[in-house]
Amino acid sequence: MEEQLSKRMQSAVSNFNDDEPDFSDEEYDKYLEQEEEEEEVEISEEEMLKMLDQQEDPFVTCARLFKTVELKSLGLEILTPENVQQLKTHGYLILENVIPETTQQQATEQTMNMVSSNKLHAAGSSKSAEDDPFRDNKARTDLTTWLHHEETGALQEIMTSLFVRLGSDLSKIINLRKHWKQAEYQLAYYKGCESTPGYYEKHRDAFPDDGSNEEGEAQRRLTTICYVNHAWRQGDGGQLRIWERKSDGGQNKDIDPIGGRLVVFLSGAVDHQVMATHKDRVAITAWYS
Ligand code: OGA
Ligand code: NI
Repeated sequence: MEEQLSKRMQSAVSNFNDDEPDFSDEEYDKYLEQEEEEEEVEISEEEMLKMLDQQEDPFVTCARLFKTVELKSLGLEILTPENVQQLKTHGYLILENVIPETTQQQATEQTMNMVSSNKLHAAGSSKSAEDDPFRDNKARTDLTTWLHHEETGALQEIMTSLFVRLGSDLSKIINLRKHWKQAEYQLAYYKGCESTPGYYEKHRDAFPDDGSNEEGEAQRRLTTICYVNHAWRQGDGGQLRIWERKSDGGQNKDIDPIGGRLVVFLSGAVDHQVMATHKDRVAITAWYS
């Protein structure tokens, strides 16, 4: 208490001398936070997307991330040269049957156990949204957790047998940062329901980035999503809706979250959303920067 008082005195004295009050480290952090908050102008996701549209076509920006390499000699494990071409020209790619059905089933079971033991948290809440504290909490309904390499079971298997190899392929064709191996892995569970279905509003995962600003904040460059919903039927909803690039017609395209399906897209270019899901829906996402 006394200490606090004397600090306040000190800051009162120094206030007299300069503009920035003289705080302790902790107080100074708080002061900066307040200043930032005052300057923060909240804009909606829709406004943000409009603003981004006024800049260079994001697909053109992101296409500069691709290396000029002879694809056939790279020894890619998951992607074919045709896949790479598709990703570069259209900004997204869909692969089927990337994990066996038993792994899909086990991953779903493992996820449901984690949900029951409260290992996942509302992605829209401040508890797990430290990466994006300003996103409004009605934008999405999913429960998520970050996955780490010490994970066990089917989720671990998906990380090592799919995402690590996929990351290695991607690092050969696209300029990723030195630390691309530290991909962000997220498990997301959307509760399905007829009356209050799960969803994630239209958004983009990153700002367009062509790799020229190595010093800048590490933007996500690729989003890769693997679905483990082995008995998905049309009519269950929960499609991933993506917006194609303008030169491809700019139409939206709905992709069912079928087990074993992998979707890869340029994080800084492809707008997307999760449509209302009537059935529980599990996705594992890796973002490479
Ligand atoms: C995301 C996202 C889509 C999906 O987590 O950013 O857009 O199909 N997920 O789960
Ligand atoms: Ni997304």
